[in-house]
Amino acid sequence: MKKSKKTNSGNARRHFIKQVAGIAALSGSIGFGAGFGIPRIAKAIDYLQPGEWEEYRKYEATPEQALRAMRERKIVTRKHIGDLTAQELTKFKAAVGIMRARSDINPLDPTGWTSQALQHALYCSSAVRNLQVHWCWFFLPWHRGYLHSVENMLAAAIGDKDFALPYWDWTRKPYIDPAYSGFGNPLHDQTRLYTSTDQIPLDFMDIEAALQAPNFFQFAGYPYPDGQGELVEGVMEQSFHNNIHNWIGGNMGAFPTAAFDPIFTGHHGNIDRAWDAWMAIHGKKLPTDERWLNTVFTYPTWDGRLTRIAVKDMIKTKNLGYEFTDVEYRQLSITPPAFKPGATSFEVNVVDKHRQQIANKMKSGRRYGLLKFERVQVPTHPLCVRIFIGTEGKSPQYISTFTILPVQT
Ligand code: C2O
Repeated sequence: MKKSKKTNSGNARRHFIKQVAGIAALSGSIGFGAGFGIPRIAKAIDYLQPGEWEEYRKYEATPEQALRAMRERKIVTRKHIGDLTAQELTKFKAAVGIMRARSDINPLDPTGWTSQALQHALYCSSAVRNLQVHWCWFFLPWHRGYLHSVENMLAAAIGDKDFALPYWDWTRKPYIDPAYSGFGNPLHDQTRLYTSTDQIPLDFMDIEAALQAPNFFQFAGYPYPDGQGELVEGVMEQSFHNNIHNWIGGNMGAFPTAAFDPIFTGHHGNIDRAWDAWMAIHGKKLPTDERWLNTVFTYPTWDGRLTRIAVKDMIKTKNLGYEFTDVEYRQLSITPPAFKPGATSFEVNVVDKHRQQIANKMKSGRRYGLLKFERVQVPTHPLCVRIFIGTEGKSPQYISTFTILPVQT
């Protein structure tokens, strides 16, 4: 249990911000299955009828048109997918469809959808000797640069200098936005476990608890370990980021396959926006360590070459050519899930000394704390856990929900 602190939040609900190096729960867990392993390479033709495809293909830019658009490109504004005009949505679908079609023709096309999805896969596996960009302080900057690269590629595919990658703000409505679903839609992915009519459990989207994290490490991940150290992820990654990846399931349920599903761009657009939302609350209290600021990542450019961007140049979105309409989230009122003793659950007993400390903090009006569990074996991957805390004689009280996603080693 780490230090806790009062906040000004008007929300009376108690938040525990957890940090997990292993896996644990004070009791109670639920699991959602998800397929993972071999990327399922979805062909555009799996979804589209010939006539539908011709409609989208009309938007494809010639190389000259793409070049002109990318030269004229200025700062674009990213919107929530549900706020796009019909024309903007059609263009977004067309751009993704064009990139998918390129990969159908040549899976090695660097401007194709398969190539962009594998770019993400490269950074979640230690087997290919790249940095692991999840579970650590590179999580936000790496994904910011990555979406920027995908955004440019989509803009060039349709030769649209104003194209902005939409984000999917799941706090607006706790359902997969219908824009991403349905056959005949290049944004669809048939491996998902849920459709636009299934509600995302509200405790999966507890954004406020994460936004209260007072320092960058707790919010977004701890320093990359030198040598043998452990990777420790931040609260936002472990809570709503992982919860929603895993809930959508299928390709999204594991890092190596996640970016094959076009909804990845919407989910991560919202994660990227949460970084700005956190900075709006806490200021730019970012790491000053050169090992963070000066780390440089390599990303594909819109025409399939490579560019290098340092973390310190990704702090302001305008440097990457975009901004957000706003960084406001709706506060969902989360009904605490009920404790089900029959559910797959396991208990962690807290030693008396810590139990007393927790009780004292709670009495003194604290709103969140950091629970750290170490050296607990993870029984299965992915694993979604609901935490309840209880004292003898009282029924367990819901605290929070987190997920551990599989990382390839
Ligand atoms: Cu690189 Cu949401 O994963």
